[in-house]
Amino acid sequence: MTDFLASLRPEALDAPPSGIVEVWNYGRLREGLIPMWAGEGDLPTPAFVCEAATRSLAAGETFYTWQRGVPELREALARYNARLYGGEFSPDRFFVTASGMQAIQIALTALAGPGDEVILPTPAWPNFAAAVGVRGARVVEAPMSFGNRGWTLDLDRLADAVTPATKAIFMNSPANPTGWTATRDELAAILDLARSKGVWIVADEVYGRFVWDGSPRAPSFHDVAGPDDRVVFVNTFSKNWAMTGWRVGWIEAPPQLGDVIENLIQYSTSGVAVFVQRAATAALDHGEGFLDHQLRRIGESRALLMEALAGTGRARFVPPAGAFYLFFGVEGEDDAGDLALRLVDEAGLGLAPGLAFGRAGAGFLRLCYARGPDSMREASRRLADWLSARPLRA
Ligand SMILES: Cc1ncc(COP(=O)(O)O)c(C=O)c1O
Repeated sequence: MTDFLASLRPEALDAPPSGIVEVWNYGRLREGLIPMWAGEGDLPTPAFVCEAATRSLAAGETFYTWQRGVPELREALARYNARLYGGEFSPDRFFVTASGMQAIQIALTALAGPGDEVILPTPAWPNFAAAVGVRGARVVEAPMSFGNRGWTLDLDRLADAVTPATKAIFMNSPANPTGWTATRDELAAILDLARSKGVWIVADEVYGRFVWDGSPRAPSFHDVAGPDDRVVFVNTFSKNWAMTGWRVGWIEAPPQLGDVIENLIQYSTSGVAVFVQRAATAALDHGEGFLDHQLRRIGESRALLMEALAGTGRARFVPPAGAFYLFFGVEGEDDAGDLALRLVDEAGLGLAPGLAFGRAGAGFLRLCYARGPDSMREASRRLADWLSARPLRA
């Protein structure tokens, strides 16, 4: 039998299976299971966004289009960013991609390859490290610690991770899976580090609108960086406007990178479908009401979950500042992989095991609470009952 695999590229062969998908496959067909393993909410895309797409299709917008994105969407991105961060933004800074994931791929393709290193604070969404790996570059983890203040990033540890091979620091704040949210001072210190070492920052601020202290957004590298800084932002429509299935995102980068990014888009997807871009434009221009609705709904679910878990006395967590995940440990349960499978079988709950997010996540579970309060009340009850019914393992 031909050994097909032996002749494949090692970077492709070594791409790891997702530890999230493993539990998902185990439990996806279970009747009545409440799925909280994936990073998405339970609301469909709002109607005004879908209608913009159907209008575009009806108008015959079915042809190849601008590699960088249609001008109207790039202008809408500039307006959205100006509203959110203040100051002026030129549409030249924006590039439409076929998902946040593709924005990450393009940013990394431009910055890192064989022999290069990318620093990544962990626990982190597994796709970051895998995307670095398939480019033949190496991830250097900067493990975060969990203590009384929740998850914290040791900036000295981050600085120690920089070597002559470092090309970029990948920063995700608010973070998936921990909810850790960098302060403005932390972002300024990380930017100073990047400046002093001449390395890039890839800033994933996908959850920047999901903060739970009442602020309209999380601190951002936009607050501290200037036009001469080496910062590439990667972002997505998936979370803010319930558009995970549309596969559309964006890159914001210094305009000097424009031709390179355009070519990388040309040689991957050759651009994003126009009707999808029309939908994305509607989301940016008219989506604040929907986002407020989501935030209120998820905020209520978050409060229910924290209260139920605190009542068990067995869950180790500090309410996270941002994103829509709880990354928690359970007293007496060290093997979170096994625990995630038992929760499928015995509680009808779908959670992701922490080891899927790097070594620093061992012993933790990730729960996505971006659901309506009724469903979250039931999920919290099942989880609290399950924890209370099981004696501590020695
Ligand atoms: C931190 C982070 N960045 C980027 C993405 C990519 O989003 P998408 O590919 O759906 O646009 C995700 C999705 O879960 C994420 O959690």
